[in-house]
Amino acid sequence: TIMPILDAPYQRGVRNAVNIDDLQAVAERRAHAMVYGYLAGGADAERSLRRSVAAFNDVELRHAVLHGVGHNDMDMRTTILGHEAQLPFFVTSCAGQRMFHADGEVATAKAAKKHGCFMALSQLTTSTFEEVSQTAPDNAKGLQLYVWRDRVLLKEVLDRAKECGFTALILTADFSWVGNRERETKTGFTVPPSYSVQQCVDAARSPAWTFDFMSRVPYGYKAVPDADFPAESLVDFIAQQMKPEFDWKDAEWLCQEWGDTGPVALKGVARGEDAKRWLDIGGKVIWVSNHGGRQLESSVAPFDVLPEVRKAVGPDVEVIMDGGVRRGIDVVKALARGADSVACGRAYLYGLAAGGYGPRAAG
Ligand code: LAC
Repeated sequence: TIMPILDAPYQRGVRNAVNIDDLQAVAERRAHAMVYGYLAGGADAERSLRRSVAAFNDVELRHAVLHGVGHNDMDMRTTILGHEAQLPFFVTSCAGQRMFHADGEVATAKAAKKHGCFMALSQLTTSTFEEVSQTAPDNAKGLQLYVWRDRVLLKEVLDRAKECGFTALILTADFSWVGNRERETKTGFTVPPSYSVQQCVDAARSPAWTFDFMSRVPYGYKAVPDADFPAESLVDFIAQQMKPEFDWKDAEWLCQEWGDTGPVALKGVARGEDAKRWLDIGGKVIWVSNHGGRQLESSVAPFDVLPEVRKAVGPDVEVIMDGGVRRGIDVVKALARGADSVACGRAYLYGLAAGGYGPRAAG
């Protein structure tokens, strides 16, 4: 077919990439402008987004020498949401991945399986739970939830997730409304794509992305297959279902619904006291995050609040962090500051949007 020809320059870019920034540059060239803007963008002036990445620069490592540790002595195993993991970082739940590449979450699951990496799936997945869990039954174990209004729909989602073998639940608490993403306004971002002049012109500029999109089944949200939402925009759907007044009582209800299936994490924590309260209501795992700087502008960098959160919950509670991780050394710094594992979003999505698996050397 024509796809390999259209994709050739980007595939070359992926092969030659030596770090995540290189993959990002290829993603920017390959993806439709509105898709890239959605992926790379943050809220308002993107201060939070930039700061979350830059926070890692403020800390340097003071190494010890002659430690006697050889390559074979290194043990990076940890527990991620109740699972034994070989690596202390994982591919996290990001919405709408078929938007970036028609293989979407299934490609992510394949990569997770290949590298023995834990995977969390988004409630706004564009592949079905079944497709993802069948692709990587031992890796795709975490399901992330937004705070939906419709409890009947929510229960249905939870039941299907359990049936598909998901054992850990992640409650996203920093996304009960949509952040003000100026790039999306500028590019005229919609889900599904529209036939506006701007989108058509940008589609012509991104031939590989456009051909990939046109020749495959259009993307839609698949968490509830009978209630597919292809015709609605992401913003409309979220406006209907998100519940900004969701509170600790709702969270407690959710923990009870999940029962003893596995641990429930609270994602979006930025304070020690919230972390403690989560444990008080029966939650097990704390997930420090500012939603990739996409929600509350000037929200504190997750890396900066790790020490406070770790101190509040003590040494034995599992703490996950995401936000700004673009290199292996960032993972090291986060672990040294108190995280048990680190979740990556954009870092792997840039590889997906670039049209291929990331380079072995990336990071
Ligand atoms: C976002 C949501 C959908 O950040 O998680 O775009």
